[in-house]
Amino acid sequence: MSTFILGIESSCDDTSASVIKNTQILSNVVANQEVHKKYGGVVPELASRAHQQNIIPVVESALQEANITKNQLNAIAFTRGPGLLGSLLVGTSFAKTFALGLNISLIEVDHLQAHVLAHFIQESEADLVPVFPFLCLTVSGGHTQIVLVEDYFKMKIIGKTIDDASGEAFDKAAKILGLEYPGGPLIDKYAKLGNANAFKFPEPKISGLDYSFSGLKTSFLYLVRDQLKIDDNFTKNNRDDLCASIQKTIVQVLLNKLKKASITTGIKEIVIAGGVSANSEIRQTLLNYRNELGWNVFIPKLEYTTDNAAMIAITGYLKFRNKQFTDQRITPYARSTNRY
Ligand code: KG4
Ligand code: ZN
Repeated sequence: MSTFILGIESSCDDTSASVIKNTQILSNVVANQEVHKKYGGVVPELASRAHQQNIIPVVESALQEANITKNQLNAIAFTRGPGLLGSLLVGTSFAKTFALGLNISLIEVDHLQAHVLAHFIQESEADLVPVFPFLCLTVSGGHTQIVLVEDYFKMKIIGKTIDDASGEAFDKAAKILGLEYPGGPLIDKYAKLGNANAFKFPEPKISGLDYSFSGLKTSFLYLVRDQLKIDDNFTKNNRDDLCASIQKTIVQVLLNKLKKASITTGIKEIVIAGGVSANSEIRQTLLNYRNELGWNVFIPKLEYTTDNAAMIAITGYLKFRNKQFTDQRITPYARSTNRY
Protein backbone atom coordinates (compact mmCIF):
# COMPACT_ATOMS: atom_id res chain seq x y z
CA MET A 1 0.00 0.00 0.00
CA SER A 2 1.24 3.51 -0.74
CA THR A 3 1.90 6.04 1.98
CA PHE A 4 1.44 9.73 1.18
CA ILE A 5 3.18 12.29 3.36
CA LEU A 6 3.17 16.07 3.20
CA GLY A 7 6.50 17.65 4.20
CA ILE A 8 6.71 21.26 5.42
CA GLU A 9 9.97 23.23 5.65
CA SER A 10 10.10 26.77 7.08
CA SER A 11 13.34 26.93 9.09
CA CYS A 12 14.90 29.96 7.43
CA ASP A 13 13.85 32.01 4.41
CA ASP A 14 12.34 29.38 2.09
CA THR A 15 8.74 28.25 2.47
CA SER A 16 8.47 24.78 1.02
CA ALA A 17 5.94 21.93 0.80
CA SER A 18 6.39 18.52 -0.77
CA VAL A 19 4.33 15.40 -1.25
CA ILE A 20 6.03 12.02 -1.18
CA LYS A 21 4.58 8.64 -2.13
CA ASN A 22 6.73 6.13 -0.25
CA THR A 23 10.27 7.15 -1.33
CA GLN A 24 9.19 8.93 -4.52
CA ILE A 25 8.75 12.70 -4.60
CA LEU A 26 5.51 13.79 -6.33
CA SER A 27 6.00 17.52 -5.78
CA ASN A 28 8.50 19.89 -4.17
CA VAL A 29 7.37 23.51 -4.20
CA VAL A 30 9.72 26.19 -2.85
CA ALA A 31 8.85 29.88 -2.43
CA ASN A 32 12.05 31.88 -2.05
CA GLN A 33 11.78 35.13 -0.15
CA GLU A 34 13.15 37.89 -2.36
CA VAL A 35 12.64 40.44 0.41
CA HIS A 36 16.02 39.65 2.07
CA LYS A 37 18.18 40.41 -0.97
CA LYS A 38 18.51 44.10 -0.35
CA TYR A 39 19.41 43.59 3.33
CA GLY A 40 22.42 41.37 2.56
CA GLY A 41 21.09 38.58 4.79
CA VAL A 42 17.94 37.04 6.22
CA VAL A 43 15.86 39.42 8.37
CA PRO A 44 14.10 37.08 10.85
CA GLU A 45 10.95 39.14 11.35
CA LEU A 46 10.41 39.59 7.62
CA ALA A 47 11.01 35.86 7.12
CA SER A 48 8.25 34.91 9.60
CA ARG A 49 5.78 37.26 7.92
CA ALA A 50 6.61 35.93 4.46
CA HIS A 51 6.15 32.34 5.67
CA GLN A 52 2.68 33.31 6.92
CA GLN A 53 1.82 34.66 3.49
CA ASN A 54 3.33 31.78 1.55
CA ILE A 55 2.46 28.67 3.48
CA ILE A 56 -1.11 28.03 2.33
CA PRO A 57 -0.51 28.74 -1.39
CA VAL A 58 2.67 26.63 -1.30
CA VAL A 59 0.88 23.66 0.31
CA GLU A 60 -2.00 23.99 -2.17
CA SER A 61 0.44 23.94 -5.10
CA ALA A 62 2.27 20.92 -3.68
CA LEU A 63 -0.99 18.93 -3.38
CA GLN A 64 -2.10 20.04 -6.83
CA GLU A 65 1.20 19.12 -8.48
CA ALA A 66 1.18 15.76 -6.75
CA ASN A 67 -2.35 15.30 -8.06
CA ILE A 68 -3.76 14.15 -4.73
CA THR A 69 -6.29 15.58 -2.27
CA LYS A 70 -5.56 16.36 1.36
CA ASN A 71 -7.77 13.44 2.37
CA GLN A 72 -5.30 10.99 0.82
CA LEU A 73 -2.49 12.11 3.15
CA ASN A 74 -1.35 9.65 5.82
CA ALA A 75 0.80 12.07 7.82
CA ILE A 76 2.29 15.57 7.99
CA ALA A 77 6.03 15.94 8.60
CA PHE A 78 7.49 19.32 9.54
CA THR A 79 10.85 20.86 10.41
CA ARG A 80 11.04 21.24 14.18
CA GLY A 81 14.52 22.84 14.16
CA PRO A 82 17.18 24.11 14.12
CA GLY A 83 16.44 27.46 12.50
CA LEU A 84 14.85 30.84 13.16
CA LEU A 85 12.23 30.43 15.86
CA GLY A 86 9.65 32.74 14.28
CA SER A 87 10.00 30.93 10.95
CA LEU A 88 9.81 27.49 12.55
CA LEU A 89 6.67 28.48 14.48
CA VAL A 90 4.81 29.14 11.23
CA GLY A 91 5.55 25.68 9.78
CA THR A 92 5.04 23.92 13.12
CA SER A 93 1.69 25.57 13.82
CA PHE A 94 0.50 24.94 10.29
CA ALA A 95 1.52 21.25 10.42
CA LYS A 96 -0.13 20.71 13.81
CA THR A 97 -3.39 22.33 12.76
CA PHE A 98 -3.54 20.53 9.42
CA ALA A 99 -2.80 17.14 11.02
CA LEU A 100 -5.40 17.78 13.71
CA GLY A 101 -8.01 18.84 11.14
CA LEU A 102 -7.37 15.79 8.98
CA ASN A 103 -7.01 13.50 12.00
CA ILE A 104 -3.69 12.08 10.75
CA SER A 105 -0.25 11.56 12.28
CA LEU A 106 2.22 14.33 12.94
CA ILE A 107 5.97 13.75 12.49
CA GLU A 108 8.74 16.09 13.69
CA VAL A 109 11.91 16.30 11.60
CA ASP A 110 15.36 17.65 12.40
CA HIS A 111 16.48 19.90 9.53
CA LEU A 112 20.09 18.67 9.52
CA GLN A 113 19.11 15.03 9.66
CA ALA A 114 16.78 15.72 6.73
CA HIS A 115 19.62 17.19 4.61
CA VAL A 116 21.43 13.84 5.03
CA LEU A 117 18.36 11.67 4.49
CA ALA A 118 17.49 13.45 1.21
CA HIS A 119 19.82 10.84 -0.29
CA PHE A 120 17.13 8.19 0.29
CA ILE A 121 14.71 9.82 -2.15
CA GLN A 122 14.26 7.38 -5.03
CA GLU A 123 12.56 8.32 -8.27
CA SER A 124 12.50 4.60 -9.08
CA GLU A 125 13.60 1.43 -7.34
CA ALA A 126 16.65 1.33 -9.59
CA ASP A 127 17.99 4.54 -7.98
CA LEU A 128 21.01 3.72 -5.83
CA VAL A 129 21.13 4.97 -2.24
CA PRO A 130 24.12 5.13 0.14
CA VAL A 131 24.98 2.07 2.18
CA PHE A 132 25.57 2.36 5.95
CA PRO A 133 27.94 3.36 7.43
CA PHE A 134 28.72 6.45 5.38
CA LEU A 135 30.16 9.92 5.93
CA CYS A 136 28.11 13.01 5.11
CA LEU A 137 29.60 16.45 4.68
CA THR A 138 26.69 18.75 5.54
CA VAL A 139 27.45 22.25 4.32
CA SER A 140 24.89 25.02 4.55
CA GLY A 141 24.37 28.63 5.51
CA GLY A 142 24.08 27.75 9.17
CA HIS A 143 26.09 24.54 9.56
CA THR A 144 29.23 22.73 8.50
CA GLN A 145 29.57 19.20 9.81
CA ILE A 146 31.08 15.85 9.04
CA VAL A 147 28.51 13.28 10.12
CA LEU A 148 29.13 9.57 10.59
CA VAL A 149 25.84 7.98 9.56
CA GLU A 150 25.44 4.49 11.00
CA ASP A 151 21.73 4.16 10.33
CA TYR A 152 18.80 6.38 9.29
CA PHE A 153 18.46 7.78 12.78
CA LYS A 154 21.86 6.97 14.20
CA MET A 155 24.17 9.82 13.28
CA LYS A 156 27.23 11.13 15.03
CA ILE A 157 28.84 14.52 14.34
CA ILE A 158 32.59 13.83 14.15
CA GLY A 159 33.65 17.28 12.91
CA LYS A 160 32.07 20.73 12.90
CA THR A 161 32.86 24.38 12.47
CA ILE A 162 33.98 26.24 15.57
CA ASP A 163 32.82 29.59 14.15
CA ASP A 164 31.30 30.48 10.75
CA ALA A 165 29.59 27.94 8.50
CA SER A 166 30.98 27.38 4.99
CA GLY A 167 27.85 28.92 3.42
CA GLU A 168 28.40 31.97 5.60
CA ALA A 169 31.98 32.17 4.32
CA PHE A 170 30.64 32.26 0.74
CA ASP A 171 27.94 34.79 1.66
CA LYS A 172 30.27 37.08 3.60
CA ALA A 173 32.90 37.07 0.84
CA ALA A 174 30.15 37.94 -1.63
CA LYS A 175 28.96 40.79 0.58
CA ILE A 176 32.52 42.20 0.71
CA LEU A 177 32.42 42.19 -3.10
CA GLY A 178 29.07 44.00 -3.05
CA LEU A 179 27.12 41.00 -4.35
CA GLU A 180 23.51 40.26 -3.36
CA TYR A 181 22.44 37.72 -0.72
CA PRO A 182 22.74 34.75 -0.91
CA GLY A 183 26.20 35.19 -2.40
CA GLY A 184 27.19 31.52 -2.71
CA PRO A 185 25.52 30.94 -6.09
CA LEU A 186 26.98 34.22 -7.47
CA ILE A 187 30.52 33.36 -6.34
CA ASP A 188 30.06 29.99 -8.05
CA LYS A 189 28.91 31.75 -11.25
CA TYR A 190 31.73 34.32 -11.43
CA ALA A 191 34.37 31.80 -10.31
CA LYS A 192 33.85 29.99 -13.62
CA LEU A 193 35.23 33.09 -15.40
CA GLY A 194 38.22 33.65 -13.11
CA ASN A 195 41.69 32.37 -12.24
CA ALA A 196 41.60 30.39 -8.99
CA ASN A 197 45.34 30.90 -8.42
CA ALA A 198 45.24 34.69 -8.69
CA PHE A 199 44.99 35.23 -4.92
CA LYS A 200 46.20 33.03 -2.09
CA PHE A 201 44.47 32.74 1.27
CA PRO A 202 45.90 30.89 4.25
CA GLU A 203 44.10 27.67 5.16
CA PRO A 204 42.97 27.58 8.81
CA LYS A 205 45.05 25.39 11.09
CA ILE A 206 42.52 23.58 13.25
CA SER A 207 43.26 20.22 14.75
CA GLY A 208 41.17 17.08 14.30
CA LEU A 209 38.12 17.14 12.06
CA ASP A 210 36.81 20.58 13.04
CA TYR A 211 36.61 23.58 10.75
CA SER A 212 37.07 27.32 11.11
CA PHE A 213 36.11 29.89 8.46
CA SER A 214 36.23 33.21 10.32
CA GLY A 215 39.98 33.74 9.68
CA LEU A 216 39.50 33.14 5.98
CA LYS A 217 36.77 35.77 5.85
CA THR A 218 39.04 38.24 7.65
CA SER A 219 41.99 37.69 5.30
CA PHE A 220 39.64 38.15 2.32
CA LEU A 221 38.31 41.35 3.86
CA TYR A 222 41.82 42.72 4.55
CA LEU A 223 43.04 41.92 1.04
CA VAL A 224 40.09 43.74 -0.54
CA ARG A 225 40.32 46.67 1.90
CA ASP A 226 44.08 47.14 1.32
CA GLN A 227 43.84 46.86 -2.45
CA LEU A 228 40.92 49.30 -2.59
CA LYS A 229 43.21 51.91 -0.98
CA ILE A 230 45.48 51.61 -4.03
CA ASP A 231 42.86 51.07 -6.73
CA ASP A 232 39.21 52.19 -6.42
CA ASN A 233 38.19 49.69 -9.06
CA PHE A 234 39.98 46.70 -7.50
CA THR A 235 36.87 44.61 -6.73
CA LYS A 236 35.22 45.52 -10.03
CA ASN A 237 38.28 44.61 -12.09
CA ASN A 238 39.16 41.47 -10.14
CA ARG A 239 35.70 40.12 -9.27
CA ASP A 240 36.04 36.83 -11.15
CA ASP A 241 39.56 36.05 -9.90
CA LEU A 242 38.56 36.89 -6.32
CA CYS A 243 35.52 34.62 -6.57
CA ALA A 244 37.53 31.77 -8.10
CA SER A 245 40.31 32.08 -5.50
CA ILE A 246 38.08 32.22 -2.42
CA GLN A 247 35.90 29.39 -3.75
CA LYS A 248 38.95 27.20 -4.37
CA THR A 249 40.17 27.80 -0.81
CA ILE A 250 36.79 27.07 0.83
CA VAL A 251 36.35 23.88 -1.22
CA GLN A 252 39.89 22.74 -0.42
CA VAL A 253 39.40 23.33 3.31
CA LEU A 254 36.10 21.40 3.25
CA LEU A 255 37.45 18.45 1.31
CA ASN A 256 40.81 18.16 3.10
CA LYS A 257 39.01 17.47 6.38
CA LEU A 258 36.62 15.10 4.65
CA LYS A 259 39.63 13.16 3.31
CA LYS A 260 41.04 13.05 6.81
CA ALA A 261 37.71 11.77 8.15
CA SER A 262 37.65 9.06 5.49
CA ILE A 263 41.18 7.93 6.44
CA THR A 264 40.44 8.03 10.18
CA THR A 265 37.22 6.03 9.91
CA GLY A 266 38.20 3.85 6.94
CA ILE A 267 34.87 4.79 5.28
CA LYS A 268 34.81 5.47 1.53
CA GLU A 269 31.04 5.76 1.14
CA ILE A 270 30.78 9.56 0.93
CA VAL A 271 27.77 11.83 0.72
CA ILE A 272 27.41 15.61 0.51
CA ALA A 273 24.37 17.63 1.58
CA GLY A 274 23.12 21.17 2.22
CA GLY A 275 23.03 24.39 0.24
CA VAL A 276 26.79 24.57 -0.44
CA SER A 277 26.62 21.11 -2.05
CA ALA A 278 25.07 22.97 -5.01
CA ASN A 279 28.52 24.44 -5.63
CA SER A 280 29.86 23.28 -8.99
CA GLU A 281 33.49 23.05 -7.87
CA ILE A 282 32.79 20.90 -4.84
CA ARG A 283 30.55 18.64 -6.96
CA GLN A 284 33.20 18.24 -9.67
CA THR A 285 36.06 17.67 -7.22
CA LEU A 286 34.06 14.98 -5.43
CA LEU A 287 33.33 13.30 -8.75
CA ASN A 288 37.08 13.25 -9.44
CA TYR A 289 37.63 11.56 -6.08
CA ARG A 290 35.68 8.54 -7.35
CA ASN A 291 38.70 7.61 -9.41
CA GLU A 292 41.45 9.33 -7.43
CA LEU A 293 40.46 8.03 -3.98
CA GLY A 294 38.13 5.15 -4.80
CA TRP A 295 35.25 6.90 -3.03
CA ASN A 296 31.66 5.89 -3.70
CA VAL A 297 30.26 9.41 -3.92
CA PHE A 298 26.62 10.53 -3.71
CA ILE A 299 25.82 14.07 -4.84
CA PRO A 300 22.24 15.32 -4.44
CA LYS A 301 20.17 16.64 -7.32
CA LEU A 302 20.31 20.43 -7.28
CA GLU A 303 16.70 20.78 -6.07
CA TYR A 304 17.58 18.76 -2.94
CA THR A 305 20.69 20.78 -2.00
CA THR A 306 19.31 24.10 -0.75
CA ASP A 307 16.41 24.06 1.71
CA ASN A 308 13.44 22.09 0.43
CA ALA A 309 10.51 20.13 1.85
CA ALA A 310 11.29 16.97 -0.16
CA MET A 311 14.00 16.17 2.38
CA ILE A 312 11.46 16.68 5.18
CA ALA A 313 8.98 14.41 3.39
CA ILE A 314 11.49 11.55 2.92
CA THR A 315 12.56 11.80 6.57
CA GLY A 316 8.86 11.80 7.48
CA TYR A 317 8.36 8.63 5.45
CA LEU A 318 11.32 6.88 7.12
CA LYS A 319 9.92 7.83 10.54
CA PHE A 320 6.38 6.81 9.51
CA ARG A 321 7.70 3.31 8.76
CA ASN A 322 9.07 3.18 12.33
CA LYS A 323 5.85 4.68 13.75
CA GLN A 324 7.88 7.60 15.16
CA PHE A 325 5.03 10.05 15.64
CA THR A 326 4.75 13.12 17.80
CA ASP A 327 1.85 14.77 19.61
CA GLN A 328 0.26 18.20 19.57
CA ARG A 329 2.32 19.51 22.51
CA ILE A 330 5.48 19.68 20.39
CA THR A 331 7.35 23.01 20.13
CA PRO A 332 10.19 24.04 17.76
CA TYR A 333 13.85 24.37 18.76
CA ALA A 334 16.09 27.10 17.35
CA ARG A 335 19.50 25.59 18.15
CA SER A 336 20.94 22.36 16.85
CA THR A 337 20.38 19.54 19.31
CA ASN A 338 23.60 17.85 18.13
CA ARG A 339 21.81 14.70 19.20
CA TYR A 340 20.99 12.64 16.19
O1 KG4 B 1 20.92 24.52 3.12
P1 KG4 B 1 20.63 25.94 2.82
O2 KG4 B 1 19.64 26.25 1.72
O3 KG4 B 1 20.13 26.71 4.09
C1 KG4 B 1 20.60 26.46 5.36
O4 KG4 B 1 20.16 25.45 5.98
O5 KG4 B 1 21.48 27.25 5.79
O6 KG4 B 1 22.03 26.63 2.49
C2 KG4 B 1 22.13 27.97 2.07
C3 KG4 B 1 23.57 28.30 1.80
C4 KG4 B 1 23.82 29.79 1.57
O7 KG4 B 1 24.92 30.19 2.37
C5 KG4 B 1 24.16 29.85 0.08
O8 KG4 B 1 25.03 30.92 -0.25
C6 KG4 B 1 24.82 28.52 -0.13
O9 KG4 B 1 24.04 27.63 0.63
N1 KG4 B 1 24.84 28.13 -1.55
C7 KG4 B 1 25.98 28.01 -2.28
C8 KG4 B 1 25.59 27.67 -3.59
N2 KG4 B 1 24.21 27.58 -3.62
C9 KG4 B 1 23.78 27.86 -2.35
N3 KG4 B 1 27.26 28.17 -1.94
C10 KG4 B 1 28.19 27.99 -2.89
N4 KG4 B 1 27.89 27.68 -4.18
C11 KG4 B 1 26.60 27.50 -4.57
N5 KG4 B 1 26.32 27.18 -5.84
ZN1 ZN C 1 19.46 23.73 5.27
